[in-house]
Amino acid sequence: MSCVMSEEQAMSEGTQGAGPEVDRLIEEGMAGRLRPGTEAFERFIDLTARRPGGTRMVAHYRDPRDHQESFEIALRALRLTPRDRYLEIGFGGGQLLEMALRTVRSAAGIDHSPDMLALASERNTAAIVAGRLQLVYGDVHRLPWPDDEFTCAAAVNMFFFVTSPEVCLGELHRVLRPRGRLVIVTVAPGPDPNAHGPWSPALRAYPAEVMEAMLRRAGFGKVRVEEPGGDRQVCRAVAS
Ligand SMILES: C[S@@+](CC[C@H](N)C(=O)[O-])C[C@H]1O[C@@H](n2cnc3c(N)ncnc32)[C@H](O)[C@@H]1O
Repeated sequence: MSCVMSEEQAMSEGTQGAGPEVDRLIEEGMAGRLRPGTEAFERFIDLTARRPGGTRMVAHYRDPRDHQESFEIALRALRLTPRDRYLEIGFGGGQLLEMALRTVRSAAGIDHSPDMLALASERNTAAIVAGRLQLVYGDVHRLPWPDDEFTCAAAVNMFFFVTSPEVCLGELHRVLRPRGRLVIVTVAPGPDPNAHGPWSPALRAYPAEVMEAMLRRAGFGKVRVEEPGGDRQVCRAVAS
């Protein structure tokens, strides 16, 4: 699974407007030449995935083909209905939001990348204008919605960047109604420490039993954590 983007894609996508310095940093990062923990490495992770920014990354997240399968897994798990009010945290380019909005009554999302907020807003302008979608700039550790606001929620290809997973899960539980469904599609810890290419050292992955325990402590029931081959982890839970 490619949780962020394929190395090939990153190398081949347009760099117009990105600036030679940024381009060089990305090339260095993709080639695995940046040492984890250094400022340059952290900047590479931010720019490409943790808080994507710049023309080149906007181009990637406009059509993140590698993420399509994870979007479909999330949608299958959520079984959206026209009565749903859907929340997505770390929505990136807003493609999954767009897909969900074909079914749900309304939706909201939060992301801390200004460029992703702009891209997702552009993609979903009609839904925003119609009052069916609210997109917020902010941090997933503090959700700006009241208790019991949503009937379902998703975190896809982003939970590995959450620094305080229990705080984030607590917030998701708070804003979900009783019986609200949650799906998290993320990376599974595996034997290969380089499974996710140059991003590997920056990703937080939890064994299934640790994810289950965190979800239960946050107040979720009917918890199921699956690792359906490869290095993907799919977590389903219901707010109680
Ligand atoms: C790898 S991208 C995935 C985007 C999208 N979910 C997808 O699958 O294409 C991770 C996204 O999560 C956002 N993100 C990461 N940590 C966040 C945080 N603490 N608060 C808000 N957004 C966050 C990033 O800005 C980025 O848009």
